[in-house]
Amino acid sequence: MTVKVLALCGSARRDSLNRKLLELTARGALDEGGEVTFISLADYQLPLYDGDFEKEQGVPGKVRELQGLFAESAALLIASPEHNGGYAALLKNAIDWVSRPRERGESGVLPFAGKVAAVVSASPGPMGGIRAMLGTRGVLEKLGARVIPQGFSLGAAHLAFTEEGSLGDGKVDGEVRLVGAARVGVATRLSRQ
Ligand code: FNR
Repeated sequence: MTVKVLALCGSARRDSLNRKLLELTARGALDEGGEVTFISLADYQLPLYDGDFEKEQGVPGKVRELQGLFAESAALLIASPEHNGGYAALLKNAIDWVSRPRERGESGVLPFAGKVAAVVSASPGPMGGIRAMLGTRGVLEKLGARVIPQGFSLGAAHLAFTEEGSLGDGKVDGEVRLVGAARVGVATRLSRQ
């Protein structure tokens, strides 16, 4: 069975380091036989979550699209930028919207629950986005996702990538790809249980 992976970057920036790291991790998932769908939050332009907005105008169509994508994926791969020791508001806002009840009243938590997830983070700083990575893990776990222990926080990320999008350090490149591969491996094993 092919494992469907949804790859989501928490930065909408054109030259996002996190997107580069996400793409590299996804290569590992593809090599392991996963089917990867990439999405950019820049294509969604979600309003900031506000209960009054939701009550008066309903859940935006773009959120419905995202909920559908999450629901049909068996695995999630998230690259989470670090902002002031936490993770980016853009990503949190998207997660909050997706977790709202679905069109037919089903729980919005279901698109997360039981999904195998992996989180990576890149930053120009020396520790990478370790705090963003851990914060994102906690939120995904609260929503019922099974976050695999493998993750990656890439420090000095502005210096790390080659023009082809690999990492200059071959050992680190291999470790990042293994995160994607491990996630597909776990999802495959769980689907057989
Ligand atoms: C940052 N950045 C940052 N980096 C870090 O390692 N720890 C931090 O606490 C912060 N804080 C922070 C706050 C704000 C408001 C900004 C805009 C940036 C740097 C940030 O991680 C860096 O810009 C990354 O390159 C952002 O990810 P993308 O857009 O390259 O994927």
